[in-house]
Amino acid sequence: MSTTTQRKIMIAANWKMHLNVSQSSLLIHRLHERIKTHRSVEVVLAPSMLVLQPVSMQIDRRKFHLAAQNAYQVDEGAYTGEVSFSMLQDMVHYVFIGHSDRRNKFNENLDTICAKMAAAVRNGITPLLCVGETKTERLAGETTRVLHDQVTTALANLTAREVQEVVIAYEPVWALSSGTDFMHHETPKPDEIAKAVETIRHNIKELYGVKASKQVRVLYGGSANASSAYDLLGVEGVDGLLVGGASLNYHEFSAIVDAAFRVQQEE
Ligand code: PGA
Repeated sequence: MSTTTQRKIMIAANWKMHLNVSQSSLLIHRLHERIKTHRSVEVVLAPSMLVLQPVSMQIDRRKFHLAAQNAYQVDEGAYTGEVSFSMLQDMVHYVFIGHSDRRNKFNENLDTICAKMAAAVRNGITPLLCVGETKTERLAGETTRVLHDQVTTALANLTAREVQEVVIAYEPVWALSSGTDFMHHETPKPDEIAKAVETIRHNIKELYGVKASKQVRVLYGGSANASSAYDLLGVEGVDGLLVGGASLNYHEFSAIVDAAFRVQQEE
């Protein structure tokens, strides 16, 4: 965490393709009971597309913000099966863009991701851009280049002012859990995370200036859990966590939010 800026900590839950409407509703009910409103910590929930609408009526918006896990870059038209950013406008604060599941399992390339970033901004939704290297790229010493390419192409059509608002999650693909092994999965060392976050900010600084690079929030994601959250949030430059597997368990997730609150209080 950086002590020199006022960036608000974000803890975001990526439920991926888990939990139907009633299961989601139950989890939210439990999270409502367990999580206190923290003005200094923003808690974001990303349920499946199907669940967003009913859940948007249930949540206390002072406590939780909603994110969509994906959206389509064209506002409307003959795109069978897709949901556009414009359709999500009143329902979500954020849309995840470029998650490694989308890049690797749905073949989203840099151009698609760039178009989605522009579509989000055009529709008044804040993009939460995920970037990160694969194991092969890491072993080949290509992490810095991969982050550079992913960050700069994604932001290419945005102005410096728009870039300031973006949230970026550094999610090394090799550190992501399968959903259940988040307690034991291999994760980067704190100095590796700090270096990746620094690389991301450096790329932004080069293209959009110091203000944008200082204002952008950068999260870490990859097997984060209740035991690791406090230390991860202490890494220089890290403004929050994107949590997958551990976010499906309300004990784990609320403990992660508590850790964020402790870190914030100690600042
Ligand atoms: P994980 O997932 O916490 O289960 O590794 C994070 C993510 O994929 O966003």
